[in-house]
Amino acid sequence: MSNKVVYINISKLYSLEGGVRVQQALNEVGIYEDAYLKVADGIICEIGYMKDLKITDETVVDVKNQIMIPGLIDAHSHLVFGGNRVNEYAMKIQGASYLEIYQAGGGIHSTVKATRDASFTELYKKAEKAIQEFMSCGVTTLEAKSGYGLNYETELKQLRVVKELQKNVPIELVSTFMPAHALEQGKEAYAYLGEMIKEVLPVVVKEDLAEYMDCFLEKGIFDAEQSMYILQAGKEAGLKIKIHIDEMEDIGGTEVACALGATSVEHCMVTNAKSMDQLKENGIVTVILPATSFNLGKPYANVPLMKEKGLMIALSNDYNPGSCPCTDSLWMARIASRGCHLTPNEVLSMMTINAAKAIDREDRIGSLEVGKQADFVIMNVDSFDEVIAHMMANPITAVYKKGIRIV
Ligand code: NIG
Ligand code: FE
Repeated sequence: MSNKVVYINISKLYSLEGGVRVQQALNEVGIYEDAYLKVADGIICEIGYMKDLKITDETVVDVKNQIMIPGLIDAHSHLVFGGNRVNEYAMKIQGASYLEIYQAGGGIHSTVKATRDASFTELYKKAEKAIQEFMSCGVTTLEAKSGYGLNYETELKQLRVVKELQKNVPIELVSTFMPAHALEQGKEAYAYLGEMIKEVLPVVVKEDLAEYMDCFLEKGIFDAEQSMYILQAGKEAGLKIKIHIDEMEDIGGTEVACALGATSVEHCMVTNAKSMDQLKENGIVTVILPATSFNLGKPYANVPLMKEKGLMIALSNDYNPGSCPCTDSLWMARIASRGCHLTPNEVLSMMTINAAKAIDREDRIGSLEVGKQADFVIMNVDSFDEVIAHMMANPITAVYKKGIRIV
C-alpha cells in the first residue's frame, strides 16, 4: 500500500514559500493556481500545477477547487486555567480598567484561585475543548503558558496538563513556563521569584516541562529588574525567552528582551519607534495580539510603523479568560486586519511563517514547501481575501496535521 497521497484541484495553494516576511514581502504569499500537492509520510514531497500532474501509486484526494493554506500557528496562549471571568465583563464595559480589576483582587487573581481549586482532569478537559475550537479554526500548532498557579503545586500542574495533552491531541503544543504572571497580594516580589527559581524551575527542567520562559513585564506587575532576575535564571537553566511587554505602558521591556536575546516580545501595544529599532537590530520577533486590544477597548499596536521599520511581526490570539477569551482565530484575523491596517495577505504571512519564527519552528512548519510538514487547511472560498473581507461563518472544510486529517 502506498503511503503517498496527492491532493488535486486546489484552486489556490498559498505556499508562503521563501521564509520569514518583512515589509513589502508580507504581501507575497506564493500562490499556485490550479495546483496539486503530494505528501509522503507526513512530509510534503511535491507541489505543482494540475496540467503537469503525473499520478503513479498515490491515493488521490480531490479538493474540488477549494483553497489551501498552511496550518495556522498561534504563538501566544494562556491555554490551561480554571473557571472564567464572565462576571468582569459588565464592569469592563462600564469603564473599569484591567489594572483596577486586578488591584481589587479580581482579574488574574481570581483565575489563580479557580486554577488552584481545579483538578488535573478538570483543567485537562477545559484545555482540550479550547484546543478543539482552535483546530476548527485551522490552528495546527499552539503555544501554551503557565502562570495561573503562582505556587509550586499549581504551576507544575498546569505544565503537566500541557505535557499530557500533547500525548493525546493531534496538534503540536509549545510549552512556556510563566511564573511571573502576577504577584499574590501580600507577597514580596523577590521572595516569590526566588522561590520559583529555587523550587519550581529545577523540576520544570528535570521533567522537560517547558521550552520557553515568559514574564509579564508591565507597570504594576513586574518591573524590568525583577523580570531580568527571573528570566536570566530561566535562560541559565536552558529555557528560551519570550516576554509580555508594552501592553499598557513602556517600562523598559525592550532593553530586557535585547539583553537576554529573547526569541520574541509580545503585545507591544505602546512600543515606541526607538524600541522598534532595537528589536529589529536584535532579530527579535514582535508578536501582536489585536483581539486583546479589541476586547480591552485599548489602542492597537502601531503595526504600520513596525512594518516600515522592517520588524518580523507575528499575529496570535492571546487566548486567556480575562483580556482575550478568544479561540476563534479567523475572527482575530479580521480584527487584526481592520485594527492594524493589514491586508489579508499580510495577515496570512503573520499567522503562518512569521508565527513559526516566533516559536523557532520556521524550518519545519509555517509554509507549504517540499520537505516541510504537511500541516494545511482547506477552505471553501475563492481566496483568503474573502475570509477576511466577509464576516462569514467558518469556511474551513478540512484541517491536516502531518498529513493526517484532524478536522
Ligand atoms: O496576555 N498580559 C498578561 N496576561 C494575559 C492576561 C491574563 C489574564 O487577564 O488572565 C494577557 O493579556
Ligand atoms: Fe498573554
